[in-house]
Amino acid sequence: METSRKNTVDLEEFYAYIEHVRSYNDAVFEATAKTPKAYARHYGCQQNVSDGEKINGMLLHMGYVLCESPEDADLVLYNTCAVRENAEDRIFGNVGALKHAKSQNPRMVVCLCGCMVQQEHIVEKIKKSYPYVDLLFGTHAVKSFPKMLYSRLNGESRQFDITELKGEIIEGLPVFRDGAVKAFLPVMYGCDNFCTYCVVPLVRGRERSRDPADILNEAKALVDNGYKDITLLGQNVNSYGKNLPEPINFSSLLKKIAGIDGDFRIRFMTSHPKDCTRELIDTIAAYDKICKHIHLPVQSGSDRILAAMNRRYTRADYLALIDYAKEKIPEISFTSDIIVGFPGETDEDFEDTLSLVCKVRYLSLFTFLYSKRVGTKAAEMDDNATSEEKSRRFQKLLDLQQEIGSAKYAELIGKNIRVLAEGTGKTGDEYLTGRSEAGVIVDFIGPKEKIGEFVNVSITGALNWAVLGEINNESRDK
Ligand code: 5AD
Ligand code: SF4
Repeated sequence: METSRKNTVDLEEFYAYIEHVRSYNDAVFEATAKTPKAYARHYGCQQNVSDGEKINGMLLHMGYVLCESPEDADLVLYNTCAVRENAEDRIFGNVGALKHAKSQNPRMVVCLCGCMVQQEHIVEKIKKSYPYVDLLFGTHAVKSFPKMLYSRLNGESRQFDITELKGEIIEGLPVFRDGAVKAFLPVMYGCDNFCTYCVVPLVRGRERSRDPADILNEAKALVDNGYKDITLLGQNVNSYGKNLPEPINFSSLLKKIAGIDGDFRIRFMTSHPKDCTRELIDTIAAYDKICKHIHLPVQSGSDRILAAMNRRYTRADYLALIDYAKEKIPEISFTSDIIVGFPGETDEDFEDTLSLVCKVRYLSLFTFLYSKRVGTKAAEMDDNATSEEKSRRFQKLLDLQQEIGSAKYAELIGKNIRVLAEGTGKTGDEYLTGRSEAGVIVDFIGPKEKIGEFVNVSITGALNWAVLGEINNESRDK
């Protein structure tokens, strides 16, 4: 088993390259009295968005300002996702559209990074068909970005780095977080589960956990800096700590973070049901700071399909866990991921998924049509259902969840719930917006000075994407 290895990169060298790029930009842009602009987009899961916050941190340190249009940019960067084919198609479309922009501004540097480019067949395609891509680095090479950029700016050839990872964790990279209220905090990287449909273990490497002291220090700094909503991130947070020199489990980590003084709340994702313990549920129940919400991807309600997916739990195991959580924490809410049209899924299997959804009554669902991924086991499996059948099932699931979700939103009317005011709302000028502990979007009437604070909101109405309400000073309902 691989162990975590911290800071195998030379941070001094890393920051030296950041300075080199900055000096280069100063020299080139001084004459024009302009500031170099970077257009960066980060796609996919929270983990990738969190990597994006590090990349943005590097860009700002290197003297770039972030801009909103690729046409205006001196550097364009797409941090990609590989989980489904349509995400990859979209990136190829975006990159294709840069050909013209780059011909107008030959100094523009085009960078591709993230999960998609950690795959060899994609790298080959880009090398061959997209000659105007300057830099390409995989998930394991984020730390090489300044060095690669500096080389390219100095006229060296196109730079590619998709080296395999040796169980590395890098502390001390700069981070530029979007917003000042909510923060992502990675606790572990990679995945060892090899669900048969999933490309993540192939592009993000083996599971490795950050040192609890590093996590705790970062969490304290976030709270000190006024962040009020911290989401702990990992592909499978419930296996946190297994390979550390002093093993610690996720519940213990949560308790330590919940022990930090201050008014903030903690979320986490993603929980794999096979590793979600009763102890974790007891921990959620015991600490006010931990949101009473679990994102617990079930993927399918059919035992046959769960086995073919290598999920290593049964429908009964999953439902028993849900029942335990509901009994311990009556107000708890669940969200989930479901894949429709996995190879070999029959109407009967799909009916099992529908009946499970009815039993759990999720607050919301992320539903996906199965997408074949190169290098995964499922890509070799026979797939007999037609795309019409899959689409029909998909729509049926959406309709069912719409019904359940709307009913659950309507149940909130008349309740008084705690909301973190995050910004101005869409519903009207006097509205603010925020989320409840369960993650429900709440648009509510309240003064702008409350942004960044927790407020109690009386819920007065329900839409299909949010609930509506107004600030109220009474204590909240459970
Ligand atoms: N096809 C469709 N959905 C997928 N997911 C992961 N891989 C695939 C795939 N090949 C979904 C799973 C996972 C979520 C992040 O993406 O539901 O939980
Ligand atoms: Fe993919 Fe399964 Fe790992 Fe989640 S747990 S990242 S679905 S292999």
